[in-house]
Amino acid sequence: MKFFIDTANLAQIKEANELGILDGVTTNPSLMAKEGVRGHDAIVNHYRTICEMVDGDISAEVVSTVFKDIVEEGKKLAAIHPNIVVKVPMIKDGVKAMKWFTDNGIRTNCTLCFSAGQAILAAKAGAAYISPFIGRIDDSGWDGVLLIEEIVKIYKVQGYKTEILAASIRSPNHIIRCAAAGAHVCTSPLESILGLLKHPLTDIGLAKFLEDAKKSV
Ligand code: G3P
Repeated sequence: MKFFIDTANLAQIKEANELGILDGVTTNPSLMAKEGVRGHDAIVNHYRTICEMVDGDISAEVVSTVFKDIVEEGKKLAAIHPNIVVKVPMIKDGVKAMKWFTDNGIRTNCTLCFSAGQAILAAKAGAAYISPFIGRIDDSGWDGVLLIEEIVKIYKVQGYKTEILAASIRSPNHIIRCAAAGAHVCTSPLESILGLLKHPLTDIGLAKFLEDAKKSV
């Protein structure tokens, strides 16, 4: 399973990248706004900076909702860098636009996926990635990882090439369960990635090793 970081924060991207396990970055308009990135030029520069920092796919989301506008906006985003993947919402015009992008050699990440039916449509449109939002599904009282399992099964049966990118990750346990379910990619906040490191027995064991090491100096 590939590891993407779900943020537009450059310091966090740098920290995750320096771990050596980062395969890409996902952003969305909320994450860009959180970093205070405003205006066309600032947004383009921010995406370019991320692309120069991380050698992997970088998702950049359109904010248009009408087919021709999604296409125009997506073309401009894709022109920023070869690693840009255009993130398109799961709406009717979004599906049409994803098919257009597929036919014109531009890779897409279908966002705001909350059902297996939506994942089938994204695959049919040729999306490179489908992003089921598992944390938000959990928030609504269901289990988001079950959706990942369902999409993994359907894509396998049908031979779809779209990669399942588990998004809206809230915990290290989400990452572990998505890996077990067969997600191709997991995009997580830095905190959840770093949470995978932690175990009290590791800390206790290391303290003891270091203490004992002093005895043999
Ligand atoms: O990648 C989509 C993700 O950013 C949504 O996460 O935490 O806003 O549900 P969240």
